[in-house]
Amino acid sequence: MLEEILQIQSSFSSEIEDVDSLSKLTTLREKYLSRKRGLITLLMKELQNVPGGERRELGQSLNVLKAKVENAIEKREKELASLALDRRLEADRIDFTLPGNQRPLGHLHPLTQVRMEIEDIFASLGYSIEDGPEIETAYYNFEALNLPEHHPARDTQDTFYVSDSLLLRTHTSPIQIRTMEKQRPPLRIICPGRVYRRDNPDATHSPVFHQIEGLAVDTGITFRDFKGTLEYFLKRFFTEQTRVRFRPSYFGFTEPSAEIDISCVFCSGKGCRVCKMSGWIEVLGAGMVDPAVFSFVNYDPEEYAGFAFGLGIERFAMIKYSINNIQYFFENDVRFLEQF
Ligand code: DAH
Repeated sequence: MLEEILQIQSSFSSEIEDVDSLSKLTTLREKYLSRKRGLITLLMKELQNVPGGERRELGQSLNVLKAKVENAIEKREKELASLALDRRLEADRIDFTLPGNQRPLGHLHPLTQVRMEIEDIFASLGYSIEDGPEIETAYYNFEALNLPEHHPARDTQDTFYVSDSLLLRTHTSPIQIRTMEKQRPPLRIICPGRVYRRDNPDATHSPVFHQIEGLAVDTGITFRDFKGTLEYFLKRFFTEQTRVRFRPSYFGFTEPSAEIDISCVFCSGKGCRVCKMSGWIEVLGAGMVDPAVFSFVNYDPEEYAGFAFGLGIERFAMIKYSINNIQYFFENDVRFLEQF
């Protein structure tokens, strides 16, 4: 029996060397230690037939062998597990030094950029920003701006009506009225916003566009303040060389009223296709606030005076960036947008 023990020991030692997977290890364990047919188990059983004197010693040797085999299997099992873990870590390895997926960075829409640029200029002059609803009442959009029903000037602003008395505002001027109702002078505000008109889309018209309204009211405001402020603004927005011209005009809510032109930025006033050879481009409607408007908001026209103006953001952007079609702003073609 001693021989068999030595034989088992040496065969086990060489076989465990070749075990390279957990399933092979299980087979090996079965072969030597299985409760019914394990080689060592069988020897243990045979021990009963060995005469008493030898049995003790052989029993001890067998126990030692069994312990060795068990330890060796356990050790191999751990080695295989850690080997498997190493392999998985290697396979799943993430290289943190590789560059990530680059996503193109978006930016502000050109109309937003121009709006913010204009806001910044007026903010630096002490103006604050006011807001108002896009669905407006006829009262704020027309009446309180001194444009009573049947006034011919209403026709020039083709209006989308929501109901008899509600409409989509045709300009940002109603925010003037809403703000004056809430605040007492002195007042210096600009009111950016979306406006609507029943115009068919073409290169210079869109049924939806954006305006900025401006209003300053205080004691002692004069036509000089009006001219100076707008000249300063236009030179800062376009260029210092820009010349500014005030032309008499008519608006219900201002008296006197003016349309303001700048020298053509494309030909510096020499005359070109854009300015229709006139050398000038119209950019603003404006004027001194009509006392009738003050009476709608209970400002005393004897005490206060003011000026107001309105501009189209699309128009300013088109002139600044030489864009010849207003539709580009609304098509959201990335090839257009990414240029700004
Ligand atoms: N609301 C006018 C329009 O949409 C623009 C305008 C003209 C605004 C004169 C004003 C102003 O405040 O004084 O055509």
